[in-house]
Order: sequence, then C-alpha cells, then structure tokens
Amino acid sequence: MSEEFVFTVAAQDGAARSGEIRMPRGVIRTPAFMPVGTAATVKAMYPDQVKALGADVVLGNVYHLMLRPGAERIARLGGLHAFMNWPYPILTDSGGFQVMSLAGLRKLDEDGVTFQSHVDGSMHRLTPERAIEIQGLLGSDIQMQLDECVKLPNTDEAVEKAMRLSLRWAERCRVAFGEQPGKAMFGIVQGGAVERLRVESARALVDLDLKGYAIGGLAVGEPQDVMLAMIEAVEPHLPATKPRYLMGVGTPDDIVEAVRRGVDMFDCVMPTRAGRHGMAFTRHGRLNLKNAKHAEDTRPLDKGSKCEAANAYSRAYLHHLVRSNEILAMMLLTWNNLAYYQELMAGLRKAIREKRLEDFVAETKEGWEKGAT
Ligand code: GUN
Repeated sequence: MSEEFVFTVAAQDGAARSGEIRMPRGVIRTPAFMPVGTAATVKAMYPDQVKALGADVVLGNVYHLMLRPGAERIARLGGLHAFMNWPYPILTDSGGFQVMSLAGLRKLDEDGVTFQSHVDGSMHRLTPERAIEIQGLLGSDIQMQLDECVKLPNTDEAVEKAMRLSLRWAERCRVAFGEQPGKAMFGIVQGGAVERLRVESARALVDLDLKGYAIGGLAVGEPQDVMLAMIEAVEPHLPATKPRYLMGVGTPDDIVEAVRRGVDMFDCVMPTRAGRHGMAFTRHGRLNLKNAKHAEDTRPLDKGSKCEAANAYSRAYLHHLVRSNEILAMMLLTWNNLAYYQELMAGLRKAIREKRLEDFVAETKEGWEKGAT
C-alpha cells in the first residue's frame, strides 16, 4: 500500500488508458466504475459483496451526509469508512450538484450556497471551505471541489458564469485542502456544451496543479454525441499523468465511449437505481423484469455470468419478486447490475492492456444488440 496518492498509467490503446491509483486505503484499478453509496450505503448491497464484485472505491455524498446523520456525527463515530464498514478508498462528491438537483429553495452567492434540506426543510449552507471541511470530517480519500453545475440546454452566459464561479471555488478548495499525503482533491471542469468554455476551464484547473480532474456538468439532458464532443475537447488539455473522472456517467455504452476517449473513472446511480426498479443490465442488453413476458421464463438472466444473481435465479422468479415488490428483487437486480458494470470495466482494462480495445468494443456492442431474449 502506498503512503502517497500515486497514479500510474500501465497501458494505452489509442486514447484509452489502463492503470492504477495507489493510496493508503487501497488500489483503484482504472478505468474504474465507482458504485454510488449516497447515504453511507450502496443501496441493497453488503460492503463485502460490493468489494467482491471488483469495486475498489465507492462514492459518498456531502449533501446527503451533512443533512443526515451530519458530518460532525460521522467524525465522532470514527469517520465514514468505519461507519459504513468499508475500509477501502472513498470518493466524496462536494454537494454542488446535489444542491441543484435535490434541495428545495436555494440561493447562490459568490461565497457559497444556502439551501433547504429535502429531508426536513431546514436551512443549510455550503461554501468551498465547508465542503472541504465536511469531506475531511468524513475522512474521504478523494475529495471534490465545490462547483456549480447548470442544467443543459442553457444560455452561454449562464454556463460561463457558473464555470467562472466554479474556478474561483476550485482555488479556495485547494487552499482549504492544503497538503494531505495519501489523499487527493480533484477539480471539476465545467462549461456546458461550449467548447471554448470547457477548454478554458480545463486549462485554469490544470494551472492549479491538482491531483486529478473531473469532467462535470455532463449527462444532464444533452445527447450522447454532445457529451462525447465535450470529452474530446477537454482531453488534450488534461495532463496524461493525472486521473480523469467523468461525473455521473452513465450507461454501459456511455462508459465504453468515454474510456475510448481517455477517461479513467466513472460513477453513476444507474446500475443501483435501475436495479431497484426492475431493470437488469446484461452482456445481452437490458431486461425489464416487470414485463409479463418473463412470467414463465425459466432461464436465468445470464447463465454465462459468474454472478449468482445472474446465473442461479430464473427470470420468472425475478419477475415475481419485482411484481410483488419484494426486497430480494432489489437485492438480486442491484447485485446483478453492479456485477455487470464491474465485469465490463475488467473487460475494458484487459482489452487496453492487450491492445485490442476496438475489437472488445465491437464484440461488446454486438452482444448488447443481439438482445437478451
Ligand atoms: N455529478 C454529476 N455531475 C456533476 C457535476 O457537474 N458536479 C458535481 N459536483 N457532481 C456531479
């Protein structure tokens, strides 16, 4: 285990990279998918089950944890790793994005954002310094700057204003974070769907010499080709020696396309949330287990999968569990979906090492298109 935060690229295939981030709590193999553990739990999963699937890091949220149970309380209880029984790396999002998408009333000013809790209506405040302080109280290994992310489509003026505010907040977060051996603070590139703003944001963040760079403000309603164009615009301006994290993305296809363009890290609620709503991701595409066509289908989701959720339960049984709103439906489908996402990441890493990424991508997409039936 490394005392420092060290990222190494071991292999490259085109723009795609495979490597690892070493830090005191463990090694993150990249490209990595980080299951989302918003409220100190990857919903419907045991931590050791998440680890066994191959996840090296999970994501936590400042927004949710500051509201409930509170950052100071988690610190008194020994920090987030001990609290949730996950001793491996944790990345925390800073709250900026969740304030925008979840909070009731909110008021943004130069210094920070005041918002109303979606839990109990109480008022709270986040500043760049407080966002870093909270991530420190949680004991987060990879901390994100506070940023402002606007919805798309939006006016260039609104996008530019949010991007510039995010840059000023990045500087303040950097000062607040200081030097913490073994830990990292990442900046977040903003700039909507405007290439020149994206490039300016990336360059200014790189000048701050941070340990890693996220691309934010994407997968917020724009088509996939716009998202990919923004990744292509930003990538040449990010240092090859630092990890790149595409926030909140995405579908298996989004992930594959972003990896081809040089992205190293991802997080998304999709596999976990969809799993709680009856949807299964497999090598042969998606299945909606609510659908009556599965009612007497004795086949498992994917008998070739190593995951028991995929190979040991019939679609008919899963359909019954989903229709009956049973807890086990959520548990099995979340398990299956995270297993599929981790299997996809392992496949991408191997293909990059073997310099056969394009063949792997073609085979993978062929599998999805063939369909699950
Ligand atoms: N999660 C998904 N997108 C974003 C973003 O732009 N900023 C932050 N902080 N989190 C995100």
